[in-house]
Amino acid sequence: MNSSVRNLLMLSAVGTLSIGLSASSEEPKKFPQGFDWCVATAGHQIEGDDTNGDWWDWEQVPGNIERGERSGKACDSYHRTERDLSVLEQLHTTAYRFSIEWSRIEPEQGTLDEEAIEHYRSFIEQLGRRGIRPIITLQHFVMPRWLRKLGGWEWSGTPGAFGKFARLVRERIAPQARDFVTVNEPMVNVLGGYYLGNVPPGEKRAMKDVAPVLVGLLRAHAAAYRALHSGEGGDQVRVGMAHHLRVFSAERALNPLDHLVAHWMDGAWNWALPDALETGVLKVSIPGVIHEVREVPEAKGTQDYVGINYYTREKVNAGVMIRAGTGHPTAADSERVARMYLPANWEVYPQGLEELLLAAHKRYNGKPTLITENGVDDAKDVKRPDYLRGHLEAVHRAIEKGVDVRGYCHWSMADNFEWIHGFTPRFGLFETDYNTYELKPRASAALFSRFATENALR
Ligand code: FCB
Repeated sequence: MNSSVRNLLMLSAVGTLSIGLSASSEEPKKFPQGFDWCVATAGHQIEGDDTNGDWWDWEQVPGNIERGERSGKACDSYHRTERDLSVLEQLHTTAYRFSIEWSRIEPEQGTLDEEAIEHYRSFIEQLGRRGIRPIITLQHFVMPRWLRKLGGWEWSGTPGAFGKFARLVRERIAPQARDFVTVNEPMVNVLGGYYLGNVPPGEKRAMKDVAPVLVGLLRAHAAAYRALHSGEGGDQVRVGMAHHLRVFSAERALNPLDHLVAHWMDGAWNWALPDALETGVLKVSIPGVIHEVREVPEAKGTQDYVGINYYTREKVNAGVMIRAGTGHPTAADSERVARMYLPANWEVYPQGLEELLLAAHKRYNGKPTLITENGVDDAKDVKRPDYLRGHLEAVHRAIEKGVDVRGYCHWSMADNFEWIHGFTPRFGLFETDYNTYELKPRASAALFSRFATENALR
């Protein structure tokens, strides 16, 4: 029996089991017609041997990745497209969010790799044959090595180069694709790289000196936005970013400062960038830490939908935040922050997704939204079934209240290389066996597949 047939059988077996356990007598919660049931991945995390980007170099430095792990062959997805396509079919996805790795397409500045172009083109064609629409990310944390050396987002040539890459993707790789994410989690990307220094390029600047990086990133996004909308069919294309949004709430309910800082964090972390895509003005303000207002006129009106990556709520302690923001964290602060950032410790707070959807809806006058990521680190699949159902119920409530939610992408299709945390976090609907590269369905896979098939929760 080949492995995908075996998986299919396992999937239907666990499916029957979970239907038996969790079907409720309530009315099914129907989703709008055309709602996308999607899973998400990123090239570097699944493909393997992604050797031409800055992350590959970053992983070689001892201490950068927990337990000294490296992405290596990851899930070997670059060579196992049939396996992945079969998993996507088993999950009954209508869409698949993945990234096209710029550093594979353009390994040296100005030199294109035709084999890589053909690889992605043919993968997208295969998706199409199965009725699965691509949601394509152009930059998911990894940058070509040559571009990093030239200064990354801050290099004046980056918007031009990124725009050119976007045009190539549209013209030569995915002319039929409709949905694009230019940059994944810009705040995580930039604050990690230039403030915390725990991801490439590993700089630890004062918060205010991070602003030029954000401006460069916005300019690059704007160039890609225009490139993706140009040419035949360009008016059909939808372009946005995948913003990492968190609910910030006061750790100490009676402490007014905690509430105030939570409010500031919400403004700066959650909304500064999506706001800039509407207004062309980047305003990041946390009193005493950063107050930056920059005109980026080319970014104005470059958000067709609000992409939301949602995982957790963050409890804010004003003291810790202010000390961290002003560059004077205590050892206890640093330990606390490190603990908080471990995916295994993220609070499960489904209500937060509804809150953020409503907030985006209100802030951007009913603009479409898309859940570009949502998931949980759970090797044993104990929390995931409730996590999945709970968050989808939150999405459903938001839709009933009038929010235009176009789809839901679960992170992730299968366990993969989780950046600085290496292979320990297990976010997959499918479990990855890193010895055989077999993907095995967890019970949640059947649940997802049932929701997707029925376009409803019950
Ligand atoms: C998000 C990233 C994604 C994955 C999940 C767990 O911040 O966008 O690549 O690592 O976290």
